[in-house]
Amino acid sequence: MRPIRNIVGLFLGLVGYAMLGYATPTNQMEQAVAHEIAALQLPPALITNEGEPVSSAATWLARRRPELLESFRTNVYGRQPVGRPANLTFTMVSETNSMAGLAKAKQVTISYGNERGTGAIHLVLFIPMSRLPAPCFLLICNRGARNLDPTRQLPSAFWPAEALIRRGYAAAAFCNTDVAPDRSNGFTNGVYALYDPPAGHAPDAWGAIAAWAWGASRVMDYLATDPGIDPKRIAVVGHSRGGKAALWAGAEDDRFALIVSNDSGSTGAALARGKQGENIRAINRVFPHWFCRNYHHFAGRENELPVDQHLLAGLIAPRLLYIASATGDATSDPRSEFRTAVAVGSIYQLFGLGGLPATRFPAPDSPVIGGAIGYHIRSGNHDLTPYDWERFMDFADQHWSVSPVGH
Ligand code: GCU
Repeated sequence: MRPIRNIVGLFLGLVGYAMLGYATPTNQMEQAVAHEIAALQLPPALITNEGEPVSSAATWLARRRPELLESFRTNVYGRQPVGRPANLTFTMVSETNSMAGLAKAKQVTISYGNERGTGAIHLVLFIPMSRLPAPCFLLICNRGARNLDPTRQLPSAFWPAEALIRRGYAAAAFCNTDVAPDRSNGFTNGVYALYDPPAGHAPDAWGAIAAWAWGASRVMDYLATDPGIDPKRIAVVGHSRGGKAALWAGAEDDRFALIVSNDSGSTGAALARGKQGENIRAINRVFPHWFCRNYHHFAGRENELPVDQHLLAGLIAPRLLYIASATGDATSDPRSEFRTAVAVGSIYQLFGLGGLPATRFPAPDSPVIGGAIGYHIRSGNHDLTPYDWERFMDFADQHWSVSPVGH
């Protein structure tokens, strides 16, 4: 019976995919990617839980998007129990000239708390003097404060703030561990200790990825008040676990105008279905604190998950989305990350935007940046490099009309 079911499933998948309005593939290579996606039998983007078709942006926003957001909260990332705390405060710790006068450097402490304790995010920010208000890239840094030296004595290839300033962008960054620790300790410190209800950490309560995303939103709360920053042109960027958090921040908080996922892999940009490398069982075994406890039920049961990651990407539509992979990053599965960039196209089309302007898997170091969705696969290993940053800025330049300082 099973082969017959599979053939029927494949046929229905192909028909479903065609009905979703994806651009007709024009050559065999393109068809190969479309067929790969169809064969995965992904949960449909454009059919509501009640089985009704979604054929307009209005219906997507009013009906389909909210139910998907809820499903990701319940089954994958968990619910944030608090939004902006009433007592959130911003303290300017220092404000100096930097980078030979090209930038203003600021350190801002973003504090919150309640009767159970306090927490603080230490934001490092460089603003180009010549471009006010400036568009901004906010990095959720998962590699420690050594990459965020506000004095620039310690330059970092992971966060090349000088390169951003040269191209007319503000560079903002904070450490994910300011918000919640990156270790499994029963959700007893960080923001969980402050905001989890007295009854404890529920099966659908936030894990670390959602906590870090919440931190990005608190930084956004500050950035929106800084006269040097254009609040309508703020990107959130993350690498790997930080990339998973950047995607979730973009889903939860529509103030981010551009979401950049670098090598985010499992439960980031890569589809759970058909994924090579790390899968749901493996990620929850090694990092049991990253997602909500309900997600653990889907270990080895990817096909039962009511969502998949193309729908997470869809929660970002019609805002800008950039997905980056690396050739040496088999754990993340670049091809699966690319499938997401293609499969989300049907949702962008509802808004009159094209999907990714390529359905052929691109050659290494050949970015695809013509539309609202961008993608590249860089030669090399799992990392966030100056090459990646330059491509994110190329993409933003196209949409935000930014030119380098001095031009
Ligand atoms: C591990 C993990 C990945 C994650 C990566 C990182 O490799 O398995 O899911 O993306 O760490 O954050 O660097």
